Amino acid sequence: MKKILLSAIAPTGSLTIGNYIGALKNWKDMQGQYDCLFMVVDMHAITVFQEPSSLRSRCFSFVAQYLACGIEPKQNTIFIQSHIPAHAELAWILNCWTNIGELNRMTQFKNKAKKHSSNINAGLYVYPVLMASDILLYQTDVVPIGDDQKQHLELTRDIAVRFNNLHKGVFHIPEPYISKTGARIMSLLDPKRKMDKSDSNPNNYIALLDEPSVVMKKIKQAITDSGTEIKLDKTKPAISNLLTIYSCLSGMTLSELEEKFKNKNYALFKKELAELLIDRLKPIQGRYKKLIDDKNYISAILEEGAKKANERANKTLRIVQKKVGFIARGKVEG
Ligand code: TYM
Repeated sequence: MKKILLSAIAPTGSLTIGNYIGALKNWKDMQGQYDCLFMVVDMHAITVFQEPSSLRSRCFSFVAQYLACGIEPKQNTIFIQSHIPAHAELAWILNCWTNIGELNRMTQFKNKAKKHSSNINAGLYVYPVLMASDILLYQTDVVPIGDDQKQHLELTRDIAVRFNNLHKGVFHIPEPYISKTGARIMSLLDPKRKMDKSDSNPNNYIALLDEPSVVMKKIKQAITDSGTEIKLDKTKPAISNLLTIYSCLSGMTLSELEEKFKNKNYALFKKELAELLIDRLKPIQGRYKKLIDDKNYISAILEEGAKKANERANKTLRIVQKKVGFIARGKVEG
């Protein structure tokens, strides 16, 4: 029996090389060794207002981008979160097992509440509990994520342990998988902030679907640090970030890259980085163009994914419902 791997992306903004390096690339590399479930989490997306028709087409587009990045539809279970009612049902139960103090500590909530100050809704607040439900429903062993999701995974583990303390062995306790390099790709114009797919300024990120000329332009205008040296250094956050992107996409180590670009200038380094990005994105974009026109193919994958995921999720949900004292559906017992 293979171990279970689960991960997800919220369909907001445009998928970036941050999402690729921090998540999708690891999904692709790990998929053969695990029993994998990959989701597009539309219920998470609506914690920030989404225009309905854009959300619908973005969900299709994200699935097509998963496939274009090399996620195998036959080998893995690919689905849309809202197609599995168990996520919302378990989330409600786990809300009752989560302390307000724990939710108050979530840095992503604090950041998002600042960014969307006119719409600090309850969904945004309990979002980490929905994420815990996503993971715990499938008895997940490993969750490949970027560094920004680490705190949510720790909360997931805490909730699961708390529940198991009273109801032994209900949830498997998941482990995060976070790469050593590339777990937090930073924004191109402000390397102190993480690269964010929902950034209002697209010059802060490279999208997976950016045209080659756009990639070249964005990398050329990415900020650099004072000095001329191309090396990984805490005092050089901009160059360190660009080097990290180069390393993750080329497979070269950071010290190999420092050697390669010794005594070279920033302009040459940036040109080579842009060319590398264009080269890596080209096959993804080629596959995407074909896939996105085949809505029937994508719908069939999602239908099959929902069928499999529903069966698995319901098994855990029924156990949890019984443990908390809900009467079994379909028959009323005393
Ligand atoms: P989301 O949609 O913000 O990001 C999707 C994945 O991409 C990673 N990531 C990054 N990695 C490196 N550098 C960056 N700049 C960067 N930006 C994003 C994220 O860490 C994540 O792995 N709450 C989650 C989605 C989610 C989920 C789950 C993930 C919901 N349920 C269950 C795993 C398991 C989110 O909003 O990720």
